[in-house]
Amino acid sequence: MNKALIGIIIFVIACLLLIALFTLFSNKEVDMKDKKVLIAYYSYSGNTRAAAEKIQSVTGGDLFEIIPVKEYSKDYNAVVQLAQIEKQKDIRPELKDNGNIENYDIIFIGTPVWWYTMASPVKTFLTKNNFAGKVIVPFCTHGGGGESSTYVDMQKLAPNAKVMDGYTTYENSANINDIKKWINSLNL
Ligand SMILES: Cc1cc2nc3c(=O)[nH]c(=O)nc-3n(C[C@H](O)[C@H](O)[C@H](O)COP(=O)(O)O)c2cc1C
Repeated sequence: MNKALIGIIIFVIACLLLIALFTLFSNKEVDMKDKKVLIAYYSYSGNTRAAAEKIQSVTGGDLFEIIPVKEYSKDYNAVVQLAQIEKQKDIRPELKDNGNIENYDIIFIGTPVWWYTMASPVKTFLTKNNFAGKVIVPFCTHGGGGESSTYVDMQKLAPNAKVMDGYTTYENSANINDIKKWINSLNL
């Protein structure tokens, strides 16, 4: 066998080994036993709730649903219109329960994308809690436009928190393996 062929075989084996190691690492179980984790989310039609529940199953954290006092209409178009007004006027609707993040180190915050940013109940949640020194791990579901300015706006509303890279999924496509890879990549 000539040297060039041996070199190619060694190179291919090394590449396969690297790929195997990477797959093993990125799919490894998430271990957050020593962390106090909260997963807070708002969901209008269920997609973000499904993502939050998957994140809960991976992290073992506590789930908290952000619920506005005044329920949004069941009429989708009415909600789209109202949400646009809420965004223009920077309205933060009152919540049934503002939650309490004091005892948590890491707070996952999930939202549907509404008019290129977070849904307004999530704005209320961010402003009614003190996030100084906390780690926020954002996630969102969207209808095709991606996260837009959702995560940047979260950082603006919680300027003293550390906002990590978010997990962004289309509608109801959140996936457990992707969630594990994302959380492992954050080195929380
Ligand atoms: C009021 C409103 C505004 C929306 N604005 C956007 C948007 O700006 N960009 C986008 O990609 N999807 C937008 N969507 C689609 C939602 O982000 C998407 O369907 C999301 O997965 C819904 O999550 P949920 O089921 O948890 O409420 C909007 C939906 C609503 C109701």
